[in-house]
Amino acid sequence: MKDDKEQNPEQPQPKKKRHWFRTIAIILIILLLPGLNHSLAVRRYTVDAEQISDRVRLALITDLHANPYGKGQRTLLDAVAQQEPDLVLLGGDIFDERMDTEAAETTLRALEEIYPCYYVIGNHECWGTMEQFEEDMQILHDCGIEILSGETVTLTVNGQTFNLCGVDDPIAYAFPPDEGQEKRLEFSAQLEKVKAESDNGYYTVLLSHRPERFEDYVEQGFDLVLSGHAHGGQWRIPFLINGLYAPDQGLFPAYAGGEYQSGNTTMLVSRGLARITPLVPRIYNRPELVIVDLE
Ligand SMILES: [Fe+2]
Repeated sequence: MKDDKEQNPEQPQPKKKRHWFRTIAIILIILLLPGLNHSLAVRRYTVDAEQISDRVRLALITDLHANPYGKGQRTLLDAVAQQEPDLVLLGGDIFDERMDTEAAETTLRALEEIYPCYYVIGNHECWGTMEQFEEDMQILHDCGIEILSGETVTLTVNGQTFNLCGVDDPIAYAFPPDEGQEKRLEFSAQLEKVKAESDNGYYTVLLSHRPERFEDYVEQGFDLVLSGHAHGGQWRIPFLINGLYAPDQGLFPAYAGGEYQSGNTTMLVSRGLARITPLVPRIYNRPELVIVDLE
């Protein structure tokens, strides 16, 4: 009788296969581990603004989703302080209907004490109950933070005058109007309103939560748009895939995060600050504080 080896010369193969599987798994783990780095990154952009001759520094904080950043939110607040911004722009989803408001409120109160702050509403401020929405808005009012809800302010910072426009998230129109408003306008009407208000020859920055409406912003001719919402497409492969999935854009989103240009409009999309929500971990997609120098 022949022994097993002679009967089946292919038998050692599974051991070899297991060896290759193990090697590939180890390589994948080594490649993925740095991708799970969820520490805060500071991402800087410089925008050449024709009408601005002295630097104006904007800090863009979006999609915090009431996530914690150390005791008293110091990790985030210290990172902002290090950059010494002239203004802080809050691009929506700072609150989250599934989270306690404490981390968001602590952040907002601390920022407002030091910097002029402007806020636009994101979808997550609208996804909870009416009471939650009103509670969030009350916190903003108590902090003294100006909500740009289809509104324009013309600011002078470091001797440089420019327009800052802000619009609500497209789903916000069904919610109670802000102070001084008769009703909350729909998204397109807000865009048209702020465009008309900012028709004064000054450089114009639009703060809007939704990057997928880029073509609307280009059509209106805003100089610079600052946005968020896409969370960097959650999973990235550096130099290959800039985001796997983003809400309202789907798979392989066109505007997951970074700089986009069309016509005379530049859009900067922050990858946002949420790092524990949603539960799917970010891969090669560190939460980011965006710093924009207009000069
Ligand atoms: Fe959002």
